Amino acid sequence: MSKNIVVAVCGGIAVYKTVDLVSRLKKKGHNVYVMMTKSACEFVTPLTFQTMSQNEVVTDMFAPVSNWEVEHISLATKADVMLVCPATANIIGKIASGIADDFVTTTIMATKAPKVICPAMNNNMYDNVVVQRNLSKLKNDGCYIVEPGEGFLACGTVGKGRLTELENIEDAIEEALCTDKDLLGKRVLVTAGPTREAIDPVRYITNHSSGKMGYEIAKRARIRGAEVTLVSGQVSLRPFSGINIIPVTSAQDMYNAVINEYDHSDIVIKAAAVADFTPKDKSEHKIKKSDSMSLELTKNPDILMNLGEKKAHQVLVGFCMETKELMENARKKLAKKNLDFIVANNLNTKGAGFGTDTNVVTIIDKLGNEQSLDIMSKGDVADIVLDKALEFIRK
Ligand code: C5P
Repeated sequence: MSKNIVVAVCGGIAVYKTVDLVSRLKKKGHNVYVMMTKSACEFVTPLTFQTMSQNEVVTDMFAPVSNWEVEHISLATKADVMLVCPATANIIGKIASGIADDFVTTTIMATKAPKVICPAMNNNMYDNVVVQRNLSKLKNDGCYIVEPGEGFLACGTVGKGRLTELENIEDAIEEALCTDKDLLGKRVLVTAGPTREAIDPVRYITNHSSGKMGYEIAKRARIRGAEVTLVSGQVSLRPFSGINIIPVTSAQDMYNAVINEYDHSDIVIKAAAVADFTPKDKSEHKIKKSDSMSLELTKNPDILMNLGEKKAHQVLVGFCMETKELMENARKKLAKKNLDFIVANNLNTKGAGFGTDTNVVTIIDKLGNEQSLDIMSKGDVADIVLDKALEFIRK
């Protein structure tokens, strides 16, 4: 959905990255309004941001107005999110102390929108106790602080202070845009992706799971305020910022990780495609070529079944992917694994299944309710699954 993002650009060398960020936000369909401090204009001209945002850039409190709105109030009211990027030690100090002495700081003072602050500066400046104190003040005041990364800094030193990757800033904006934090204080445990069962040091057995469904659930839960742990098989996805990620390889690894986390989780959603079998004997060395070979497999632990047996206060959610008799199988699993509800999909349905960005699911709960949903994005399915889990927590 298109939102109004007001970007306060300050005078640091990382401004060139903010140009790219504005472009990315525009591509996502947002309206972007840029305001620049005087020193920011020394690094990049307003024309660059005007072109990228396709909006007039404001730099001067007392410039002749192009319309009759009081500009800093108008931007402050318009903002769904106020982004400060890069945030210098100077602006951090000003916001934390309530100073409003130019267009940028006055607008920030006048807004009720959530603030996302992205510090970028020399590492010694960043480490300075005053800067750290100001940042904790802002954090306590409810600002989202996007921590800088470590590495080579423009001033020639190596340390913590470089503007973080733009993906992390985009994540913080998404988090800030969600004002209904209905999962705040809840601990959500999600599993995602395939498991890999080693045959020898070179080969393994796996499945086609991309992990997208589980990663979307983890992301949406985080955005809605939950503390999220994601136990993930090997996938090529970037986890959303702020998620505690536990990478695993085999079903046994996943079992160990999940059991460890289970007691202190409120909602457990098992979206992983766990291998049911694993090679009985894993060869220490690479198996040599021969005319034929056979592999003996042995059963893996059924993680969800174990969780069902141990269930105390948790809301337990399973996934079920089938190629036939979907509903019968899903109902059976729901009962057998002692779940609160199960999310079922058929691999052969168009828009459902592995690697897609969409899914077509039916949700069956232990009270006998069955809800068939149309094709939708995995993000939307994730929200519906989380809504339903919340319903069960409240019951
Ligand atoms: O019985 P089936 O494997 O089809 O059930 C699917 C559900 O059970 C999924 O939620 C999956 O993550 C979970 N599962 C598990 N441990 C296994 C196999 C499946 O937790 N060994």
